[in-house]
This record gives sequence, C-alpha cells and structure tokens, in this order.
Amino acid sequence: MGPRRADGYHGLVTVFHAVSLFDEVTAESAGQDGVTVTGEGADRVPADHDNLALRAVTALRAAVGGAARAPAVHITISKRIPVAAGLAGGSADAAGALVACNELWRSGLDHQQLGAVAAKVGSDVTFALLGGTAVGRGRGERLTPALAPATPYHWVLAFADGHLSTPEVYAALDRLRAGGAKAGAKAGHPEPNLDAALMTALRSGDATRVGRALSNDLQPAAVALFPALRKTLAAGLELGALGALVSGSGPTCAFLASNADRALDLAVSLSGAGVCRSVARVTGPVPGSVILPDPKTAK
Ligand code: C5P
Repeated sequence: MGPRRADGYHGLVTVFHAVSLFDEVTAESAGQDGVTVTGEGADRVPADHDNLALRAVTALRAAVGGAARAPAVHITISKRIPVAAGLAGGSADAAGALVACNELWRSGLDHQQLGAVAAKVGSDVTFALLGGTAVGRGRGERLTPALAPATPYHWVLAFADGHLSTPEVYAALDRLRAGGAKAGAKAGHPEPNLDAALMTALRSGDATRVGRALSNDLQPAAVALFPALRKTLAAGLELGALGALVSGSGPTCAFLASNADRALDLAVSLSGAGVCRSVARVTGPVPGSVILPDPKTAK
C-alpha cells in the first residue's frame, strides 16, 4: 500500500480473489430510478442515489448516451454479502447492476468498456465484474488476471460483530504511518511492489505456501480500530488455518484451509470459540458478475 495521493486515494498493488458468496441484483424497467435492498444488513445500505448500484446505473447511462437509450430502472438487491465488512459487497452490487442494465438496455458494451465505467464507480468495481484471481494496481481498478493454476482454495470467513468504514481504515493507516517506527508501521512506497512470495505461491497452487504468504497492509489499521480482530485471527491460526488475514478494510477475517474437510472443522471450531458473529465456508476463485436466468421465464 502506498501513501495517500493528492486525490485522497492510496496507490496500491493487491491480489483480488473472488469467493463464492454472492448477492443477487435484478434490474427492471420502472417510472424512475430506484433501489430496494433486502437480506443481510439491508438496513445499513443507502436506498437512494448514494447506493453504489444506482451510481453504477447513472454512470452506465452517461456512457451509453443518456436517458433515451437507457430509460429508468428499479434495482433490487438481495444481500448475502455482509455490509461494511471488507468484502467489497457494495462493489459487487454495482458490478451486478452494470451487467444487468447493459443487458436490459441492450447497450452491447463489452467487458472492457464495462470495466471503464466500473472504474469510475468505485475502486473495486472493475474486479467485481471480472472475478477470478487478479492483480490490482492504481486505486485497485487497473487489473491483470493472475496467471495461476485453477486450484480451488477453501476459505472460512469470520464475520465480525460490528462494521468498519473503508475511508476510516485508510485514515487510521495514515495515522499509524505518521506515528512511524513507534507504531511499527511501514511508510509505504508511492509505487508498491507486487508481493513476490505470494505470486510464487499462487503459481505453485500450493495452499500451504499461499497461506504463509497472506498479508494485508490495512490489517494493522483495521485491528487498531477493531481490537477484537486480534483474537479472531489468533484463534483461527491456533485452530489450524494455513494462513489468516483481515479481508480488505475489515472487519471480516479470512482463513485458508487445506481442503473442504479442514475448512468445515475450522468453521465449526471458530464459531464455537466465540471470537466472531458467524462464519461461512466459501471457495475461490469464482467468476465475477454473471447473468442468471430470469426466474419468471425459466422453465
Ligand atoms: O473507490 P471507493 O469509493 O471504493 O473508495 C472508498 C474510499 O476508500 C475512498 O474514498 C478512499 O478514502 C479509500 N481508498 C483509498 N485508496 C484506495 C481505495 C480506496 O484511500 N486505493
């Protein structure tokens, strides 16, 4: 992670990895743009034009030539990805809205053109479109797929009893770094390097090596704002995880297991240890936003 740039963002190099936890986004023609959110943490999601999915609708409309080509839509989001959890759930919804509206409006944008719109909506939206495992640069919007074998990885996610705001975690990182050596923080190079150990591990497809190479520069900041995470991370490692890290800006913690059975053991033990609100087993990599058959027309 680099230092804060003049535009307020942090230049970074990161490895994105899409896992099997999905929200469902529906777009339908309507009298005016609107959004309805249901499911996990729905009350914390803005239901107005601040909603990232609606911002995606507006950005796509501008890109395809305005209201004549892109009439009003109502977006419905059924959430399973926890909100403000460091799992890029809002970005996933925005990517879903882009794919859905591109189809509804028959705009015909290809993946690359949609990616350019996505980058304007949010730093992680481009990856949410693409999915898989990819290296992100810039704010996170400049992507190159990670050339790695199609190894399935088995993860346990520990959802926290609380939330973290991404800008606040980045601000905490800046403060830790300003505190310097006293806080043990690295200053952060303007153009950070890709983690060679992690890339070698990913190319090997060996979960043990990947586990050992997991790290996140935002983790000390997330832990400073949410000290209970220290216990969650330690518990997962003690219970046999190959590696652990705070996901994104937290507070969700991700633990890598060697196979599906170990992931089940770890999930059961972690939820029994009382160090998180709930757990989920997921696998990755999975594709990004995909079109599902319309339940009204599907046989
Ligand atoms: O791009 P997005 O709206 O998802 O970013 C949310 C916030 O996270 C930004 O306003 C910024 O404070 C912080 N951020 C950052 N550097 C990044 C990505 C996000 O500082 N590379």
